[in-house]
Amino acid sequence: MVNEAVQQSATPTIDYLLFYVNGNRVIEHHAEPDWTLLWYLRNKLDLTGSKLGCGEGGCGACTVLVSRCVDRDSGALEHRTVNSCLAPLCSVDGCHVVTIEGIGSVAKSNMHPAQSRIAEMYASQCGFCTPGIVMSLYGTLTSSDHPHTSLTIQDIEDAFDGNLCRCTGYRPILDAAKTFAKDINTLPCKDSSASKSISTTLDKCLSFAEESNKEITKVEFPQELREYIPEFTHIKGSTIEWYRPVTLHELLRLRSTYPGGASKLVYGNTEVQIETKFKHLKYPRFICVTNIEELQQMKRTPTSLIFGAGVTLTRLQAKLAQWNDPKVDGGVCQALIDQLKYFASTQIRNVASLGGNIVNASPISDVNPVLQAAGAVLELHRAEANSVRHIPITDFFLAYRRVAMIDDEILVNIHIPLQLSTNKTFLRSYKQARRRDDDIGIVSAGLHVELEPVESTDKQQWRIVYTRFSFGGMGPTTILIKKTQKELVGQPWTRAAIKKACELALEEMPLNELTPGGQPEYRRALVQSFLYKFYIYVCSELQQSSVDPKELSVAHKYHRAISHGQQTIPERPASHEIIGTSLPLRSGYLQTTGEAKYIDDMPSLPNTVYGAFVLATQPNARIKNIDLGAASKVPGFVSFVNHDDVQGSNMTGDVVHDEEVFVSSVTPCVGAVIGIVLCETERAAHAAAHLVQIEYELLTPTLFTIDDAIEHNSYLGDEKCLWQGDVEQTLSEAEHTLEGTVLIGGQEHFYLETNCCMVIPSNDDQELTIYSSTQNPSKLQELTALAVGCASNHVTCHVKRMGGAFGGKESRSIAPCISVAIAAMKVGRPVRMNIERDVDMSITGQRHPFKIQYKVGFTNEGQFTALDVRLWSNAGYSFDLSMAVLERAMLHIDNTYRFPNVRVRGRLCKTHLPSNTAFRGFGGPQGLFGCETIVDHIATYLKLDPVAIRRLNMYKEGDITHFGQPLERWHIPRLMDELTKSSDYVQRQKSIEDFNKLHTYRKRGICMMPTKFGIAFTAKFLNQAGALVLVYKDSSVLISHGGTEMGQGLHTKMVSVAAEALRCNVNLVRISETSTDKVANTSPTAASASSDLNGMAIRIACEQIRERLDKLLVGDDAHLSWKDLVKKAYFLRIDLSAHGFYATPEPLGGDLANNRAHFNYFTQGAAVSEVELDTLTGDWHILRTDILMDVGTSLNPQIDIGQVEGAFVQGVGLFTMEELIWGDHKQYKWTKPGALFTRGPGTYKIPSFNDVPIDMRVELLSDAPNPRAIYSSKAVGEPPLFLGASAFFALKNACMAYREQQGHSGYFLLNSPATVERLRMACADEFTERACMNEHGAFQARGSF
Ligand SMILES: Cc1cc2nc3c(=O)[nH]c(=O)nc-3n(C[C@H](O)[C@H](O)[C@H](O)COP(=O)(O)OP(=O)(O)OC[C@H]3O[C@@H](n4cnc5c(N)ncnc54)[C@H](O)[C@@H]3O)c2cc1C
Ligand code: FES
Ligand code: FES
Repeated sequence: MVNEAVQQSATPTIDYLLFYVNGNRVIEHHAEPDWTLLWYLRNKLDLTGSKLGCGEGGCGACTVLVSRCVDRDSGALEHRTVNSCLAPLCSVDGCHVVTIEGIGSVAKSNMHPAQSRIAEMYASQCGFCTPGIVMSLYGTLTSSDHPHTSLTIQDIEDAFDGNLCRCTGYRPILDAAKTFAKDINTLPCKDSSASKSISTTLDKCLSFAEESNKEITKVEFPQELREYIPEFTHIKGSTIEWYRPVTLHELLRLRSTYPGGASKLVYGNTEVQIETKFKHLKYPRFICVTNIEELQQMKRTPTSLIFGAGVTLTRLQAKLAQWNDPKVDGGVCQALIDQLKYFASTQIRNVASLGGNIVNASPISDVNPVLQAAGAVLELHRAEANSVRHIPITDFFLAYRRVAMIDDEILVNIHIPLQLSTNKTFLRSYKQARRRDDDIGIVSAGLHVELEPVESTDKQQWRIVYTRFSFGGMGPTTILIKKTQKELVGQPWTRAAIKKACELALEEMPLNELTPGGQPEYRRALVQSFLYKFYIYVCSELQQSSVDPKELSVAHKYHRAISHGQQTIPERPASHEIIGTSLPLRSGYLQTTGEAKYIDDMPSLPNTVYGAFVLATQPNARIKNIDLGAASKVPGFVSFVNHDDVQGSNMTGDVVHDEEVFVSSVTPCVGAVIGIVLCETERAAHAAAHLVQIEYELLTPTLFTIDDAIEHNSYLGDEKCLWQGDVEQTLSEAEHTLEGTVLIGGQEHFYLETNCCMVIPSNDDQELTIYSSTQNPSKLQELTALAVGCASNHVTCHVKRMGGAFGGKESRSIAPCISVAIAAMKVGRPVRMNIERDVDMSITGQRHPFKIQYKVGFTNEGQFTALDVRLWSNAGYSFDLSMAVLERAMLHIDNTYRFPNVRVRGRLCKTHLPSNTAFRGFGGPQGLFGCETIVDHIATYLKLDPVAIRRLNMYKEGDITHFGQPLERWHIPRLMDELTKSSDYVQRQKSIEDFNKLHTYRKRGICMMPTKFGIAFTAKFLNQAGALVLVYKDSSVLISHGGTEMGQGLHTKMVSVAAEALRCNVNLVRISETSTDKVANTSPTAASASSDLNGMAIRIACEQIRERLDKLLVGDDAHLSWKDLVKKAYFLRIDLSAHGFYATPEPLGGDLANNRAHFNYFTQGAAVSEVELDTLTGDWHILRTDILMDVGTSLNPQIDIGQVEGAFVQGVGLFTMEELIWGDHKQYKWTKPGALFTRGPGTYKIPSFNDVPIDMRVELLSDAPNPRAIYSSKAVGEPPLFLGASAFFALKNACMAYREQQGHSGYFLLNSPATVERLRMACADEFTERACMNEHGAFQARGSF
């Protein structure tokens, strides 16, 4: 059959791949068609700079540049950044692949400016996203012929829509990238009277302006590939074949030889890869259609636009921009341009085809509604009798992902008719997603109307000739609402007609709570919002006076301004040499060049086997049988490891040993580890793990939510209570009391590097060497020893760096690694495991959801008198760190306010979900959120500005908190005063009022709020640290300490501390890794306290050495250099090593049983955020954020600002965007109970580049030394996170303005996160009323709490 097809093609067949990587020629004779480019680069070429962050095209960590010659005559090249995790290796035949290693390296001293600037401008933290980000920037520079003369800041702003960074908050990346733009002078400059310590985006760009004018080097395109002629290719893999025909004739023949499921067409593979990887669909052969000229055409005739099915979305965008003329095309070009702007990402659009999107037939496709509205016609070809047929796209979608295509048909062209009518026609597209960048629409629409003037004296009257209204996200296919359209024909174009259209559309597209994807009410509201926006747009184009000018803002798309920033740093204290300088991140350059190694980048030892988890698929179910039959037949299968293989204890846990390493009988949740399959390759391990069959007996009940647990009295531990004063009495006497309940959802850590480990057993004295991405090497060592049944001194854990952690790798990194250690012991071979993103998200726990119920008493003026509050957190199935998290929430319920009488009660709800865990803030943000909700409630009730309530109740110096700690060095009043002034808060509040009066459907809101965060572990014993300082004969210094580097800059700060204390050049000091054989019994790198603790330990060690050395500075040697001093000491046989130990002094620690707790000190800060909300969709932008943060005397101001900005944006994510959805019995019945639906970047949205505040200003408070920490500094990692809630309350403020305008005055409940859905539905109006019937004013969207 194959030969027949090939013979019929009469073309010689090529059976190998030829391509170049970083200028090096590669001929691959043994390619497998299911190898991705990323896998090949990392595993076959050892180019580990490109990272695997998600494997689904959603994070950009794997971005590489693929270039090819598109015209041999002119030599024209096409450069495309692509997601190498989606691109099949076979697709790069004839191309030049440039990876991060190809553009520059530290080792070769040839860094590209895109690499050096990102490093020098503090734009990488953990560095895991960085190679991908550099490649996106490099791709943007390369695609431009003259980057320094043609790139605009808008180009830069748009360049990263396919990249995520969880650490930096994006501002520094954008600043570094903007140094390459030509129009930097359009950026705002700082106030000329401002102090010198202010630096703006413009300042940074100017500092590179001269350098920018130099030629930007590009990797040379190989001459051989300029001559490359694509030929018919057939790659025969071990199980799959790859065909690449080069003519339509060959393609049609092949498809007719292998019709239907016998082959799968691929173009960009952006959808097919998802199907094969995540849905485990199998295809025997792929037919690649990228090189068929007939699929590439873009033609405009007098009657239509014609696009080949193989036109990539990037090429489509460029051509549409060229053709765009609404007078000729009736608006279709603009409608497609608008839709493509926020379609996926640059990397996806660079490879994905228009035809692929259509045939894929996703009900949430963003393009298909526009094509339906435009009346597009599809041209389908098949080999048989050279048949060609045309089918309207309106008849193409038959059912969910089923299209009207015959088995062997190929989509060749898409014809979009041009509107030739003399009547007025309008076509617009609409889309609302959870996030703007790289997110598929919740609802998308293409709306088209033709209007004719009504013959009457009133020239303003228009009648509907026809409409084509098409929606995505409203059913199993893209839907054209034919009945509604019919009803509208002949109607005048009026509000009444649109109202009718809304009503009929909702009837025609019924949704209910079982509809996959959920959000039925929101989707119903969006349909109407889009129709209404369209109505206003058309009216504004027709210049109809029926439209109030205040409504006009919704007629046009929102134009987001260019983002920029400003940082203000106080003068550095003269007493310090190094402390207070902004030493760049020590591994910054290595990160930007991809040379920094993470665990998955380490080479495998000979004999290594690879593990993949077998996970429970049922919550609370007894395992009846495990069938390994099919799995054990997978070639390369080595072993299956489960609880029977545990030599020591199968019980583990960070605080309480209440979890099993491997489930022995009853699964506590979906995702619990039942076993590990070991195979000779990673791919085989995943394949085999997938084939293990488990039989279960389902048990009851299954509890997933806080309310489920409360109903079934399912708790972990006892209720905790903190009590001060007489709450009940005061409440009963209060002038006013208010009660309420608010919910806050969980948050996924989304560290870019998933959990990863390698365990090497040694038969020599039963040693285990572990390389793990963990924040807690000592705990890993201890619990591994317990599980394998040896003493801790047989186990060594090494951590060089992590690609982000945020608390997610404090305890939950441990059990997976223990199971790998058990596997390694069983087979006596090194075992490695890199947990895939979807698995990592599903099993390793998240931030705890909380339910907060309060009753508060206060005076007429708003003075608090008493607070009675109950907190419930969803702990999941085990304790983990939940009790400490709950306690911190209880200790932070006061934020910065004095409640004279308080009772706080807390309980841990035990559910059948993975155990929730630490996350930056550790319960603090949940408690603080409860507090600010109470403030908001009171302010609304008393009709006062919340800031007035905040100021009235603010603690004063010396006040005592509800847990008995007196407040010293209390800077909050000063922070609020200075911020009010620097942010121009009062004036802006007035401007917002004016704006809101003039805009009906766009509202602005503002919020200024303070925060305090207690620094110290509440478990007193954890507040200790050790360090080992080794000075070598050549005067270089090696430091080991207990903290781990996860991007927070700890090692950089510690190097500064050592250099300061030793009085040596900072470049002589190095930290290699964290290891349990250097420093023992370390505490986790957590609680923001690692600089405080380890810094002191290092300083103590260094001071011992320095003291010994200082004694040698006598006589002629009084001024010896560091180098000579060290040499002298060595020859005098003086110890050049020292161990330092530090324990935070008393009083310290939590003692809730006695209503007491004591932190070492409080880090304090305040923020103002101003937002603008589209009340019809819930879409929003942060217009400006000002943060003033007290970090004492900063150890490293730029690193601290990086922490402030990164934490703030993570907080914005927590409070506005990041929503976890777990299948349950009530809220989300359309997804499997107990399983996480949002388990990848496709469904779980962290903030992206497009979400940063347009104007981001951060200032570090001056003159606020902190005597309780190293060199008067303060901890900074967690405290600023809560300030992200300023965006939440500003959005709530904007909603309030709309609600009041719509007649819904008074307090309303807004649970967190304030997603686009919650915001839109809180903006109660006639549309929400129709969307959710009567209760719309108090409607609460579903959530997993
Ligand atoms: C991270 C990510 C983000 C995304 N975001 C969006 C988004 O915002 N909006 C949106 O609408 N979609 C989105 N998608 C979906 C996807 O990108 C699009 O559907 C894309 O256009 C598919 O094109 P492709 O060339 O990659 O298709 P492929 O994956 O190569 O193929 C898709 C389907 O089309 C078939 N096919 C391809 N060409 C032809 C042809 N000529 N004739 C017949 N059949 C053909 C294939 O056999 C396959 O069934 C996203 C996908 C990813 C991975
Ligand atoms: S790993 Fe490729 S996009 Fe995330
Ligand atoms: S630096 Fe971007 S994810 Fe860590």
